[in-house]
Amino acid sequence: MHTAEKTKESHGLGNSWQAVRLVMPFFRQYRLRLLIGFLSLLTVNALQLVIPRIIKHAIDGLQNKSISPETLMQYGVMIVGLAVCIALFRFGWRYMILGFSRLLEKDLRSWLFSHLLTLDRIFFQRCTTGEIMALATNDLAAVQLAGGMGLVAFADALVLSLAALSFMAYIHPGLTLIAIVPMPILALLTRFLSGRLHRTFKRVQEQFSNLTEFVRTSINSIRMIKAYTLEKKQTARFDTIGREYVRHNLRLAKVQGTLFPVSGLIANSSMLLVLLFGGRLTIQGSISIGDFVAFISYLFMLTWPMMALGWVTNLFQRGVTSLQRIQNVLDQRPVIIAPSQPAPIPEKVTSITIKNLTFTYANQSDPILQDVSLGIRQGIVGVVGKTGSGKTTLSHLLARLYPVAQDTIFWNDVDVNRIDPAEVRKKIALVPQDGTVFSDTVRTNITMGKPGATQEEIETVARAAALHDEVVTLPQGYDTRIGEKGVKLSGGQRQRIALARALLSDRPVLIIDDGLSAVDIETEHEIIGAMRSFIRDRICIVVSHRLAPLAQADHLVVMDRGRIVAQGDHEHLLQENTFYATIYEYQTSRMGKG
Ligand SMILES: Nc1ncnc2c1ncn2[C@@H]1O[C@H](COP(=O)(O)OP(=O)(O)OP(=O)(O)O)[C@@H](O)[C@H]1O
Ligand SMILES: [Mg+2]
Repeated sequence: MHTAEKTKESHGLGNSWQAVRLVMPFFRQYRLRLLIGFLSLLTVNALQLVIPRIIKHAIDGLQNKSISPETLMQYGVMIVGLAVCIALFRFGWRYMILGFSRLLEKDLRSWLFSHLLTLDRIFFQRCTTGEIMALATNDLAAVQLAGGMGLVAFADALVLSLAALSFMAYIHPGLTLIAIVPMPILALLTRFLSGRLHRTFKRVQEQFSNLTEFVRTSINSIRMIKAYTLEKKQTARFDTIGREYVRHNLRLAKVQGTLFPVSGLIANSSMLLVLLFGGRLTIQGSISIGDFVAFISYLFMLTWPMMALGWVTNLFQRGVTSLQRIQNVLDQRPVIIAPSQPAPIPEKVTSITIKNLTFTYANQSDPILQDVSLGIRQGIVGVVGKTGSGKTTLSHLLARLYPVAQDTIFWNDVDVNRIDPAEVRKKIALVPQDGTVFSDTVRTNITMGKPGATQEEIETVARAAALHDEVVTLPQGYDTRIGEKGVKLSGGQRQRIALARALLSDRPVLIIDDGLSAVDIETEHEIIGAMRSFIRDRICIVVSHRLAPLAQADHLVVMDRGRIVAQGDHEHLLQENTFYATIYEYQTSRMGKG
């Protein structure tokens, strides 16, 4: 992890600039907010610098007894007034600039999210969910920190240190030179220590995510833990992770504990120099006591900017590294893209033809589908075959989720590669095996492909999917919330919701990839029967492990190890294909016994 980051950091300046260019448009977009913010910041600094000047006048006045109590009072009121103004403008810059950094984070996150949705499945198989989540949380946070606090601290440190230095030089240039001798050491030291701080902090965060991940998986698999009586073991492991977390936190405390005292020490050594040399100048009368006190105030003002410069360099480095990671994803392009001059999609899809289709997954050497040829017409086509024979792969290729070679899949007579993939997908309804439901109401889940569908339409598809009778028994019927935060549904119920969604979307091609596997066999029978009248002139591909319900299909295909080994109707296959006949008999005789 650590070394990976090192190599990333040493990518070079050009690359860093490219990453920074990514956020430039946002700086332009929010320029007014930034302008107000930085002007407020400048005002705060200017006001802060005035206070030592007032103190100087007060002290000098006191020393030569030329000041009246009233004037002193006035000075006091002025300082309080300045403090109030400082507070107001400080609120102003915080609100504006930190607000900017949050907006920047939000915009980048939305950009990243919308971009992710354009990418193909191939990308998501290369990149784990954890990596994407880290990008959307840790990396964006680093950019936010650099673009907010980092920028503020940088501007602040620059202005404040320049101003403080000028005021100091105005009081006494020589003394100023002496006083700032230890300052670069402070900046370097902060840079070194904050680098360590960052690495330690990262380990604390990693350990923390281990902790949360452990809790998450334990709670998710609580049934397994109970069933295998693993409670004690899990608790012990949790304790170990907890101990590690404490260990890393203590290490963090050590680094933090060094940073501030050490920088205090260096700042105080400046003070030593000033007392030594400045004191002598004051005694000699080269500078007044008031100047001497003001000088010391400015010196204190310088401590923070010097520390900030070291800290900020680190923040910027982390921000840029994170930006590069984000840019990496934003640079990804979908593999399946529309040709420059796409052929129009057939108005009415009457057939899909597969010709000598061979397919290999990107990360593998052996083809999963070999020389598959199949003519699919309107009606129900059943696909059966052993597990791993390539049924899902075929469904996904038909749904344009992976790229296919030229002239292998045709819609009517048009090669799909010549059609805009988005247009193709718009014509397809896919029901995957896991029956994806979203954390929302049953209604929203069903109407996803056709928002604004009438209650009647919804009920019709729900009946066809053998779902209606169960939905009406739910607490709020079709308006019951399901998923994570709602009513928990069975696997079969989820599958039938996914099916109802596909049926309602009214698309000419319906692909059900083992989408009824968690439904009992009688219901599956019923559903496929209902679908026959429902799909009329659509193309419907149904993958299933159970042959009996599929016997009603117009055409059946048997797959084995990536090849189509037999096809025809039920009667034909029963005669001609031993695999089909054996499985059919096995399944039906078992059903009879059950
Ligand atoms: N994304 C992938 N990357 C690499 N190999 C894959 C991928 N998906 C599936 N495979 C491999 O392709 C082969 C066919 O898988 P596929 O999911 O198409 O089979 P299936 O017929 O749908 O099986 P099941 O009946 O169990 O659902 C398997 O050997 C599997 O390991
Ligand atoms: Mg499958």
